[in-house]
Amino acid sequence: TSITLIGVPLEEGAGRGGAAMGPAALRIAGIRQALTDLGHSVSDHGDLRPQPAADLADHPGANQLQVVAAFTRALEAATYDVANAAKLPIALGGDHALAMGSVSGMARHAAETGRPLFVLWLDAHADFNTPDTSPSGNIHGMPVAFFCGQAEFSPILPAGRPLVDPRKVYQVGIRSVDPTERELVAEHGVNVFDMRAIDELGVAAIMRRIINEVEAVNGLLHVSLDVDFLDPDLAPGVGTTVPGGATFREAHLVMEMLSDSGLVSSLDIVELNPFLDDRGKSARVMVELTASLFGRRIFDRPTRAA
Ligand code: ARG
Ligand code: MN
Ligand code: MN
Ligand code: MN
Repeated sequence: TSITLIGVPLEEGAGRGGAAMGPAALRIAGIRQALTDLGHSVSDHGDLRPQPAADLADHPGANQLQVVAAFTRALEAATYDVANAAKLPIALGGDHALAMGSVSGMARHAAETGRPLFVLWLDAHADFNTPDTSPSGNIHGMPVAFFCGQAEFSPILPAGRPLVDPRKVYQVGIRSVDPTERELVAEHGVNVFDMRAIDELGVAAIMRRIINEVEAVNGLLHVSLDVDFLDPDLAPGVGTTVPGGATFREAHLVMEMLSDSGLVSSLDIVELNPFLDDRGKSARVMVELTASLFGRRIFDRPTRAA
């Protein structure tokens, strides 16, 4: 596979600083080499550095809107261009607000190819707030609502842009949802596999179901991996830790099954905050998971699990 890394040093979507150092930490942890070692051809687009969007007014419910909007526009365009050039974009975050851009860019690409876009959201949080429901005003809690067309709080992207069908969004690992956000997620039919579902069903059964649904309609699958999907003991380098997250083994199995599926079209690695990390531990685990997603194996499987 031809892969393009896109650095997204965005932290203004989060409530505290540090995620802007994420792309640097992922590079130091060896993301490019890990992918090259698996036989992929990897290019690095460098970091996006857009000027704040001066055309947008401040929004009382959306902190740092001009900065987040500028990154959304820049990453939407970069993701679309990379996917159109038949390469696989990996956004190196940066906070989760960047998914407003990466997923919107993939939605535009998918619309042109005629294939439906699915999103796998690996996160402790549903990130389905809007400026009107958010308790914090932090835009990193809003990207899913945005790319589903439910948080049109300003003209960040052109009207009529392709949206994602919330029923094609699968959320896994969820364990922290705000009260109004919970209603929105249910109302729009987002598929939520919370931590209880992982405990009851196991990640293998959940992933098989998701992969089957994408495969059945030849969909594209965008994977958005938030560091806080993982248990904080495993990955402390994130500003919004929630106890009781995915284990090392669960997370690797998710990645291995995705790799086997051959359906993944694009990836975000988000919310890594090197300022809060423990000697690069979280950066390294994110690189290890990325390697599993792109083909690293303990042993090859004799047949593909149905
Ligand atoms: N639900 C909370 C909020 O809206 C937390 C969101 C955390 N999101 C994240 N991408 N870490 O502020
Ligand atoms: Mn998130
Ligand atoms: Mn999160
Ligand atoms: Mn508002």
